[in-house]
Amino acid sequence: MRTAVLASGRGSNLQALLDECSNGSLPIEIVGVGSDQPGAAALERSQAVGIPTRVFQVSDYPHRQAQEEDILIWMRENRVELLLLAGYMKVLGPQFIRQANFPVMNIHPSLLPAFPGLHAQRQALEYGVKVSGCTVHLVDEGLDSGPIILQEAVPVLSEDTEESLAQRILEVEHRLYPEAVRLLVLGKVVRTGRRVQILQQEVI
Ligand code: GAR
Repeated sequence: MRTAVLASGRGSNLQALLDECSNGSLPIEIVGVGSDQPGAAALERSQAVGIPTRVFQVSDYPHRQAQEEDILIWMRENRVELLLLAGYMKVLGPQFIRQANFPVMNIHPSLLPAFPGLHAQRQALEYGVKVSGCTVHLVDEGLDSGPIILQEAVPVLSEDTEESLAQRILEVEHRLYPEAVRLLVLGKVVRTGRRVQILQQEVI
């Protein structure tokens, strides 16, 4: 499945996806990586394995919608069938989502619907929850509000800082995101309205 990834920063989730692709356990072809940040390490990670990159810096466009239209054109030119957001820190507008005729997936570092938006780990610490985690979901027109594919809980420890909690969640993200993508690509994600059912592997 021809796949594009959008990432704004470090790109460790992108790296997890790239690693799973290269060891043959994730049947997608990442055909391009885009970023709104020209200095994103995610771009270097892609270039290191020969994947073409594109920068879509919002300030290069008259308005956000023009930036998103350009991303859509790039997707069409590359015949993209799946878009993965991997630490892409801009919310895609409703027009983008309506026009995207392919699934868009995102990973978020909380157990949604708790703590959507920025600084999810900080929000979790400030609220005082004892358990947080991460969520892979389909992207809809809301903020981190689309149908949930997979979630996994991670304990919040009393001595946690934002960084230590983020790191513990990130380790799970690196496993959960490729797994959710694999399920989708293998046709095991069945959506009925908001609810997503995961078809189980047949046991022989
Ligand atoms: C990850 O923790 C991801 O879940 C989060 O940003 C980090 C990106 O790290 N995404 C969001 O908060 C989206 N709302 P990475 O660049 O190393 O993959």
